[in-house]
Amino acid sequence: MQKLNGLKILITGGAGFIGGAVIRRLLTSGDSFIFNLDKIGYASDINEINRILNDNKLSNRYTFLKVDLKDIKEVENAIKISDPDLIIHLAAESHVDRSIDSPSEFILSNVLGTFNLLEASKQHWSKLSNKRKEKFKFLHVSTDEVFGSLDINEKGFDESYPYDPRSPYSASKASSDHLVRSWFHTYKFPAMITNCSNNFGPKQFPEKLIPLVIQKALKGEDIPLYGDGSNIRDWLFVEDHVDAILLVISKGVIGQSYCVGGFGEKSNIEVVKMICEILENLIPSKKVPYHNLINKVKDRPGHDLRYSIDSSKIQSELGWTPKYSFESALKKTICWYLVNVDWCEQILSQSGYELDRKGI
Ligand code: NAD
Ligand code: TYD
Repeated sequence: MQKLNGLKILITGGAGFIGGAVIRRLLTSGDSFIFNLDKIGYASDINEINRILNDNKLSNRYTFLKVDLKDIKEVENAIKISDPDLIIHLAAESHVDRSIDSPSEFILSNVLGTFNLLEASKQHWSKLSNKRKEKFKFLHVSTDEVFGSLDINEKGFDESYPYDPRSPYSASKASSDHLVRSWFHTYKFPAMITNCSNNFGPKQFPEKLIPLVIQKALKGEDIPLYGDGSNIRDWLFVEDHVDAILLVISKGVIGQSYCVGGFGEKSNIEVVKMICEILENLIPSKKVPYHNLINKVKDRPGHDLRYSIDSSKIQSELGWTPKYSFESALKKTICWYLVNVDWCEQILSQSGYELDRKGI
């Protein structure tokens, strides 16, 4: 992270799961100045960042900007205040099921929001001194879901794989990727994109599969498994994603995209059974064995069968490699949720999310 020292970095979505992990890493290593732009949505949490700031007396290196990307004036103002050398764009509505129930916020935040950020950032970049302009970079953090769904034996997505999004979420992310790429080609705006597979780890909002299963098992409630549980995701521990994001923003080549993931392909039923087994070893169930709570429910509409990533490019060109195996990271994650039951209760009650949904 040598190259990031002393720089002003604007991070959007820094109150979310992955953005928060990026900010905590930057605050605790290096000496960059962080500007966290977030609207504070249902999945947001800045308590841990504030704790790190207080414990380490780092408040001079951090500014929180409560901004909704949908409002161009607010975005322009945030860019003026932060005067960034680098921008890492993570803010987005991120849950597929929500995008099926109510797609409009996904279009507004992910598409219009990215457009507003690109416009304000281009304006800022065009006025920079030549020296700062040369170093300026914009990293758009995207998903492997833009590539669509793979059959069981197809080879994994790489950077040349055609886009074929199939949910409102992935379509909104694909649209934002296209905008970013077009700003590079048309205006030479120095942007890069990462397309990462499913993340998991501490502080993920418990509507996503892994934290949801942990919560359900601990409460002794049915664990909803969509369809027959054979859908496959390519799981990556969030700290490995943070490594990739920081590597790309420091060493990535302008105009390029990088696929991030790999090594963690598992079917949903395998993941759910592993969680039940680990929990059974850590805190044996009192009544019904955890795995007996698994309940096959109606499938998600348009449920993508399989995601798989070929990470060869970021590995060979930038030297990224994940440090965690799926198994070790899953244990670490489960242990975090076991000792942070209060965090889950608090974020669920502040968001009004009902954990007892059983799928769509
Ligand atoms: P998250 O839902 O935990 O956090 C997203 C944050 O963005 C929230 O704090 C939210 O308030 C903020 N946000 C949303 N709309 C906004 C708006 N209009 N203005 C300002 N802030 C807004 O999501 P996450 O899992 O941390 O994902 C972060 C990014 O990484 C997203 O762009 C997502 O598409 C991408 N991604 C996620 C995964 C994954 O598995 N979670 C995998 C690959 C890529
Ligand atoms: P999710 O964590 O929502 O991520 P994504 O849809 O972005 O991949 O879901 C991961 C997988 O788990 C996906 O195939 C849907 C499935 N799933 C269930 O079977 N049950 C659930 O309750 C949830 C939330 C997801």
